[in-house]
Amino acid sequence: MDLNKNQLSQIFTPDYIAEFMVKNIKQQYLSIHNKPNIDLIKILEPSAGKGIFLSHMIDEGFTDITAYELDQSLEAPLLNYYPNVKFKFENFLGSDSNEKFNIIIGNPPYLGQNYNAHIFQELVRTYSMCEKYFVGNMDLFYFFIHLGIEKLQPGGLLSFITTNYWLTKSNKTGIKHLKPHIVTDCFILQLIDLSKISVFKDAKGQHNCIFVLQKKYENEKQKNINKYIDVVQVNPYNNRFNEKSNKILFKNIINNENSPHLLKYKSAMTNKDLSKINGWNLQYPVDVKNVVKKIEIFCSFNGSLSYLSDFFIIRNGLILIKDEVFILKENDNLKIADSNMFIKMNNTFVKLNNDEKQKLKKLFKSKVILPFSYDKNGFSGYLIYLEKNEFKIQDLKRRNKLTEKKYPNLTAYLNQYRRELEDILRNAKENIRDIYFPRRGSLITQFDINHKRKLVNLEPYYDKEPKIFFSYISNSNVFGYTQDSYYATSDTYFLWPREGKTDIDHLFLLAYLNSKIVKFLFKAKNITIKRSKTKLEEEIPVPNISLFQFPYQIELIDIIRYLTSNLTQNIVSMDKGKFDKLKDLNLNIYSQIRDVKNFKRIIDICLLKLFGLDEEEIELLIEKYY
Ligand SMILES: C[S@@+](CC[C@H](N)C(=O)[O-])C[C@H]1O[C@@H](n2cnc3c(N)ncnc32)[C@H](O)[C@@H]1O
Repeated sequence: MDLNKNQLSQIFTPDYIAEFMVKNIKQQYLSIHNKPNIDLIKILEPSAGKGIFLSHMIDEGFTDITAYELDQSLEAPLLNYYPNVKFKFENFLGSDSNEKFNIIIGNPPYLGQNYNAHIFQELVRTYSMCEKYFVGNMDLFYFFIHLGIEKLQPGGLLSFITTNYWLTKSNKTGIKHLKPHIVTDCFILQLIDLSKISVFKDAKGQHNCIFVLQKKYENEKQKNINKYIDVVQVNPYNNRFNEKSNKILFKNIINNENSPHLLKYKSAMTNKDLSKINGWNLQYPVDVKNVVKKIEIFCSFNGSLSYLSDFFIIRNGLILIKDEVFILKENDNLKIADSNMFIKMNNTFVKLNNDEKQKLKKLFKSKVILPFSYDKNGFSGYLIYLEKNEFKIQDLKRRNKLTEKKYPNLTAYLNQYRRELEDILRNAKENIRDIYFPRRGSLITQFDINHKRKLVNLEPYYDKEPKIFFSYISNSNVFGYTQDSYYATSDTYFLWPREGKTDIDHLFLLAYLNSKIVKFLFKAKNITIKRSKTKLEEEIPVPNISLFQFPYQIELIDIIRYLTSNLTQNIVSMDKGKFDKLKDLNLNIYSQIRDVKNFKRIIDICLLKLFGLDEEEIELLIEKYY
């Protein structure tokens, strides 16, 4: 296989990092193995580059060194500089997994599968190891970890510097084989988080980490032995890329010296807690976890901790066949005069009948979502929302005929674009008769108590039920709300109550979701929303109001609900009675209220009190770790 320089991923490791990594792994190996004879330690660098790791291995006294490198142009200089290293100028991924080592160390090449599918295809065709571990969306360095693990002796150590994204990925995104392989065969002993500093000049935006794995002995596997994970978080002096200060920090780590820029702690996640399928929140400090536990005390139902997904089906808004066709713009293809609406067809405006007017819905984009509400004037047009199951008829031809009869102008308008809409559906392998309807997001599947599947039409929910929604991209906890008609496209997620969950306290939940408590949970559990809601639905615990039983707690909940309700309706004044209640509660809450109009702040103070949390502690933790 001929690879160009880009595909070889030749980004070389800075000298001080290589020095650190070699010293670090040597220290760990010697302490685990009770000072073995260094000449007997077989050490491997699987992708040598210009040999920076080799040079430090030699400095540290290693003698049995093996190295692979694919780039033939590096052969002569490497042989010249490192005459005692056993070189193999061939593809490491084709090497024999029976060739075993005690230590493996390096900076393997990074190459995303998405943009280099042909290279991965060829690797899969050529090497059985690659065939075994290939999965879409992976990175080339995953193969280096897999083969590295296979080549390690039990008790042996592997340390790589890589990008850190794989740690938090779930099995849907390329780590299907990697995480099970690591969890089954290895312990993670150490994670050095470099995401706040830059170590590679040519890859400044990249977030990196150094990790150390230890291969398990057979008896450690059988006895399910657990081990702690040491975390070192490296924080920059004043800017991300400062080689001089980086050098000092890595010296500090290896010499076990303290620095205000190094945060060292044991992770609250131990090896036993590592999931084979979900992201790993390795940087989860024990003191943060303790606060999370305090919150979770109030989030159990019938003895088990409950999360958003136990109450809600979280789904995107509507996916339309083509936004430009289905979303009408006022003064463009739609005119509104008095209570009449007119749609533009063939350059003339045609009046819509009353049924049709009901089917034009104001559409909101996620940018209008505000905590507790949304910008009511910020709608981006009127959506044509016809419902597929309105006539409860299986025969699609007849169904369309009835739709056309009831909504003659809307369907005539859509028919202008028939060809185009049909093509889109055909390409997506969907039914081309469905050109009048949203493609997705108008129906959800629910299961009743007998586990029977039923399709629920969401129109009444979009129209008037209480709704909590949030943007599909966000790293803060902003949850909007309304009971009015609110339609959105796929850039918005909606929380639809699961079948049977009829007693959801929307106002209290809304207050909680927008609170400082959930803001803290976002940080603690490393939650950001990037077109994916899985972490949110599976990791945000839901409070159980009935667990707050003291009279003051019941009063607090009442005030929280009241203020939240006002916020959702843009009411800015507080009832005197409620205000006096706050004073009467005598919980030191009143003294913290500087601005009686700042309801969000008052809600936060009440919620913290309710959960028995210390705001200062939470703030200190956020400042320390995040
Ligand atoms: C990210 S660089 C790191 C080089 C060196 N380890 C360092 O840290 O400076 C990766 C190196 O791996 C080499 N390489 C890429 N694919 C390889 C493969 N399949 N087998 C062996 N070496 C490979 C590249 O030529 C490149 O020199």
